[in-house]
This record gives sequence, C-alpha cells and structure tokens, in this order.
Amino acid sequence: MHCNARSSARWLAAATAMAVFLLLTAVPVAAEDATPGQPAIHGSGLLMMLPNYSDIGEKIDRIFWVIFWLTTIVFVAVQSVMIWFLVKYRERPGVPRTVVYSHGDQKLEMWWTAIPSVILVVLALWNNSVWDEARKRPPVDPVRVQVVGKQFAWTFVYPGPDGEWDTEDDLVEGSLTLAMGRPALFRITSLDVLHSFFLPQFRLKQDALPRGKVEVWMTPLVTGRFEVACAEFCGLEHGNMRNTLTVLEPAEFDKWLSDKQNKPKRTVSYE
Ligand code: CUA
Repeated sequence: MHCNARSSARWLAAATAMAVFLLLTAVPVAAEDATPGQPAIHGSGLLMMLPNYSDIGEKIDRIFWVIFWLTTIVFVAVQSVMIWFLVKYRERPGVPRTVVYSHGDQKLEMWWTAIPSVILVVLALWNNSVWDEARKRPPVDPVRVQVVGKQFAWTFVYPGPDGEWDTEDDLVEGSLTLAMGRPALFRITSLDVLHSFFLPQFRLKQDALPRGKVEVWMTPLVTGRFEVACAEFCGLEHGNMRNTLTVLEPAEFDKWLSDKQNKPKRTVSYE
C-alpha cells in the first residue's frame, strides 16, 4: 500500500516539475518580432503571443500578463507545498501512523482570505475600466464594417455613399480593408452557426451570433496585411475560414473606398 502512495507522489512531483519547466522555458520558435506589414504566424515571448497593433491591445495585454503571473505564482506555490507535504508526511516503515487533529490557524485563514479578496477586487475594477473603453464607448465617426460569418467564409459589408447598412448601395467585399489610425466599428453577425471573428494582432475577438448583431471596435495603429481568423469550431471547414485584413494609409483608404463605391455594384444577397 505505501509503495503505491510513494510512487504516485513521485509521479505527481515529476509531472509538476515538468509542467513548471515547460512553462518557464517556453522559448519562442520564431523569436523575431513580426514586422508591421507582414502577417505574422508565430508570435514571440513566453506564450508566443502575436505582437499587438491596436489602440486597446496594450491595456488588454497588461491585464492578461498580470493575471497570468499571479495565477502562475499561486499554481507553483500550491503545487510545491502539496508535493512537499506528500513527501514529508508519506507513510514510512517503522514510523507509527499518528494522526494530529488541528482546527487550523484563524489568523492565517484571515490573511489568505483577505489578500486574494483585495487582489480580485483590484483586478475587477481594472478590468472593468478597460472593458468600458473596449466595449462600451463606441468611437466617433468610425469606418463601419458589417462582418458576416457563414460556413465557411467571412463577408465584409461597408455602407455605400448613403452611409447606411442594408441598403442597395452597400459595398460587399471578400476581404477586410481598414485605415490606419482611424477607428473601425464592426457589426458582427452570422447567417448559420456560431463563428468567432478574430483579429489576433488587434486583440479583438467576438462571437458571431446567428441573427444577433454585436458591435465591437478598435483602431489599427500600423499599415500592413494581417490575418483574420474564425476562432470558433463551426464545421469541417472551420480551418479554411481565414481571411485577410489590409490596413492602408488614411488617404489610400479613402481612395480605395471611393473607387469601390464608384464601381458598378455586385448584387449579393446575404440574408
Ligand atoms: Cu467559422 Cu470556425
């Protein structure tokens, strides 16, 4: 019996050591930062995150990393203590099996309740202020794009010269184009199942709901070509639901848009 307990403690110790080792040495495969203008496939740094090119991304990343390190420290601390106890109090031949009953330590309990509570409240308030900016205060005079998910492609609908969606002069595009430094407001919807509109380099991800319309926004800070992904398993060709975001200089974008709007329209029904 004690043989089993000892070997499982050893396994647990080995597995935890391995997990901690992997976590701490997760060295990027492609270490160099992606150059703006090149769609980066591999990120860099500890978790290989793609670089951020949106206005709100830096704030989101900061919260992400604080939470990541807090939870990592707690995880490592709890696992270490657990393994230490497993080894220290293991059954040993010749050592009598005595049990000590304890009611714990009230002072210690108070601290380990108070400290996490304070941390969680601080995180909640901080989170909330970034969330307000990211999701509750729409930008003034944005480039507006309706993002339509459908098995298995994204379609992007710009309002025509009348400035309104769902009218005859809508501009229907097969890929996404935006202007650098100009806020973009997306109205995201789906025609069939759940999809998820994901711009990894702009820290924007939003489920596309069948018949639902959700508005999200961000401002791209650099020009270039970037990946648009579907981040929700939506069927067998989910992996093919990739698309491209091209961010242009504002003047180039205006020219692109007016050229498109002056071209004869394609009639596409996306209802
Ligand atoms: Cu659409 Cu996955």
